[in-house]
Amino acid sequence: MNERDSESIHSFLQASGFDMVDNETSADVIILNTCSVRELAELKALGKLGYLARRNIVLCVLGCMAKNLAEEIKKRVPGVDIILGPGDYSKIGDYIEDIISGRRTFIIDVDSPGAENNLDMDSMHNVTQRQSSAFVSIMSGCNMRCSYCIVPKTRGTERYRAMEDIILEINKLADNGIKEVTLLGQIVNRYGFRQIEQKDGKSAFVQLLEKIHEVPGIKRIRFTSPHPVGFHRDLIDCYKNLPKLCSQVHLPAQSGSNRILKAMRRAYNRDDFIKIVQALRDTVPSISVSTDLIVGFPGENDDDFSETCSLFDEARFDMAFIFKYSDRRGTVAASMPDQVPRDVKEYRNAVLLKKLATHSKAYNDKMLNTLQMVLVEGKARRGENIFQGRANNHRKVLFPGDDLDVGEFVDVRITSSAVTTLYGEKI
Ligand code: 5AD
Ligand code: SF4
Repeated sequence: MNERDSESIHSFLQASGFDMVDNETSADVIILNTCSVRELAELKALGKLGYLARRNIVLCVLGCMAKNLAEEIKKRVPGVDIILGPGDYSKIGDYIEDIISGRRTFIIDVDSPGAENNLDMDSMHNVTQRQSSAFVSIMSGCNMRCSYCIVPKTRGTERYRAMEDIILEINKLADNGIKEVTLLGQIVNRYGFRQIEQKDGKSAFVQLLEKIHEVPGIKRIRFTSPHPVGFHRDLIDCYKNLPKLCSQVHLPAQSGSNRILKAMRRAYNRDDFIKIVQALRDTVPSISVSTDLIVGFPGENDDDFSETCSLFDEARFDMAFIFKYSDRRGTVAASMPDQVPRDVKEYRNAVLLKKLATHSKAYNDKMLNTLQMVLVEGKARRGENIFQGRANNHRKVLFPGDDLDVGEFVDVRITSSAVTTLYGEKI
């Protein structure tokens, strides 16, 4: 999501006459687009800010940390010129001009009143030549109250973009050569909740997927992240009815223990979760299933953790983001008793990472000798004339290719596999 936000910030600045430089040392203006989901991200950003504040530049902090820690940033890093919270980034060009011209010496804007109405400004993209894939925001904010999470505080309540605007944007992207879109939102399957009526038993999100499916030029559709609550039959059926929908789902589980899920205020249990995964696998047997898991949530004991381990095996996650629980001031979990010691979190994290490597390799091994349609992203970091792209299930595939392949679909036969990457040959 931040990557997408940075892209629209880039577009706004370009429209105001600014140019992007290719390295930080020659920049006159530096924008840090920050995240507050975990403390480590904030600490890193604060460290970087302290370092940058010594230079004679216009220094801006945007994103969730701007909202979450505005006063602290102001106090601890006097060199910061602009603090702008998530929401209405269209003002950034004017704000920088204000600082450069000396009209203002410091700007803080973390409760942007325009933010609620400004979702359509989101449609600014910077499609470069031969780029084939784009992120599209369909909503922002979150109405859930997961007890560990800072997002509802930093991003506010849910706002949904109008379906026509999203379709218009995707049509424009397709006209500019985009072949794959990834729909973004804190909970994409809540799109239009209580605002757009169900039609033939189909949620607003499913209606949106169907409309996007009709856009000529768009060959692949992905989305992230859905919530297990609201992942109903109509959405599962899309994997059968909409061939452009990729065989991949990222479904955050957070924990395998019913007790912890309850304390996290996730309104589903382990069984509900398994049933969704099973229904998805029944529909698309080779589907890639990834997740988010938190280890060391307050009160998580060995039994709870074993439940998460067994969920990992039962759901056969082939990809996962595993997070050590991080205390976020102002959240309900921050004041819960039985905070888990750091070394226990480290241990549980390591156990799950090991499990992940095993599952991921097993999943990749099943792809050996198959033919995959790969959407080519560009040159791989290593190796002469080695290119990289994504299979339909989002697995990374490396193969010897040439420059003309970039941005195109190429048929690749998979010849070997590692934990995260597959290797193959063009046919
Ligand atoms: N500590 C650790 N991980 C967190 N996440 C959200 N809040 C926290 C926290 N306080 C994780 C969740 C979510 C992902 C984006 O970040 O797993 O799905
Ligand atoms: Fe945070 Fe829960 Fe909303 Fe996801 S659903 S953004 S974890 S509050």
